[in-house]
Amino acid sequence: MAQTYRAALVGTHGISNTHAGYYKNHPRVELVAGCDINEENLNTWCDAQGIEQRYLDYEKMLAEVQPDIVSVCTWNSTHPELTIAAAEAGATAVISEKPMGEDYGAPADAVARCAELGCKMVVHHQTRFSPGYNAAKKLIAEGAVGSPVSVHWNSGGGLLNIGSHLIDNCRWIYGDAMWTSIFATIERKRNGYERGTWCEDRTHALIEFEGGHSMVLSIDIVPGQKYSDWSFVGPEGVIHFNRAGAVCRNAEGTHEVEPEPQPSFLEELVDWMEGGPEHRNIASGALVAQQIMMAIYESARTRSLIEPPYDKRQSPLEEMIDSGELAVEGEAVDIRRPEALVYAQERYGRGT
Ligand SMILES: NC(=O)c1ccc[n+]([C@@H]2O[C@H](COP(=O)([O-])OP(=O)(O)OC[C@H]3O[C@@H](n4cnc5c(N)ncnc54)[C@H](O)[C@@H]3O)[C@@H](O)[C@H]2O)c1
Repeated sequence: MAQTYRAALVGTHGISNTHAGYYKNHPRVELVAGCDINEENLNTWCDAQGIEQRYLDYEKMLAEVQPDIVSVCTWNSTHPELTIAAAEAGATAVISEKPMGEDYGAPADAVARCAELGCKMVVHHQTRFSPGYNAAKKLIAEGAVGSPVSVHWNSGGGLLNIGSHLIDNCRWIYGDAMWTSIFATIERKRNGYERGTWCEDRTHALIEFEGGHSMVLSIDIVPGQKYSDWSFVGPEGVIHFNRAGAVCRNAEGTHEVEPEPQPSFLEELVDWMEGGPEHRNIASGALVAQQIMMAIYESARTRSLIEPPYDKRQSPLEEMIDSGELAVEGEAVDIRRPEALVYAQERYGRGT
């Protein structure tokens, strides 16, 4: 009989519903337990998912349930510690939400510890599975437009929040290319946080990758605007795409690419757990996106071009805030979840 797996989830709100959907749709994985520090969120979600085993303490849950797969769906600062706890409790795989953390050091530790323990860690940059993004990836690999620049204006919601998806997706489309340089600037006048993590008001960056590809990243330049479509502009043409599909315009004319069906995020993880190919969202790859975001802050901090290797553990944004270099106006405000800022205030004395 084919092996079955038991999953548990920490952080039973918001994005946890997407993870629950993966588990529900996989015939050999059962979601058996949930954990949240907020009892109301815990009970509402477990009732909706039909889950009996409910915990307010993740360590207790990991010890009692001994899950094979753990979903980490809490606020940013806790992702590395929960991932390490799950791996140390014996989980075979962990799905960590993005961003991997608030800095570079803690996520790098989580990746290293999981590797040491043989725990398969993936990061939930799920749009690597979007048919349209994969169609664009194929076009770029075929050289349909030459070496492109990614043009993605006016995304909103903070660098770590939205940038983690965009940078990781761009790397996927560029064949997981390594970055070669970053030149960036940020502004932080508001005393802003995003799910409890320091957040700048605006970011603008130029990221260069191996192979001559590049990415221009503008986040929150025009407040309130969010991205939808995305373009790659190359010397030989343009690719315009979104999650559903891609259109390419080059010397051969304009053609719509037939998107290829993709497996589910969890199917690919179970395959990997059973000896199949590495998951496309392997955490060591996602760590490069985390590193790029920290290098963006470092470029802003030092007002200079940053090149690899980059291994500073602390967030340069935190460094700039601590040094008083970024003077802010007004009270601390969380742009997504005020309760996450309260948690960060109580736990780290942040934003007080
Ligand atoms: N991949 C995506 O597209 C996507 C989309 C939305 C959110 N996210 C990410 O998911 C994470 C959660 O975001 P959300 O919108 O679901 O937040 P949310 O506030 O809706 O839910 C988070 C839950 O985690 C709980 N929690 C926080 N710390 C905890 C701890 N130490 N132990 C147990 N429970 C804890 C909170 O009480 C809350 O119920 C964030 O890091 C966010 O960036 C990813």
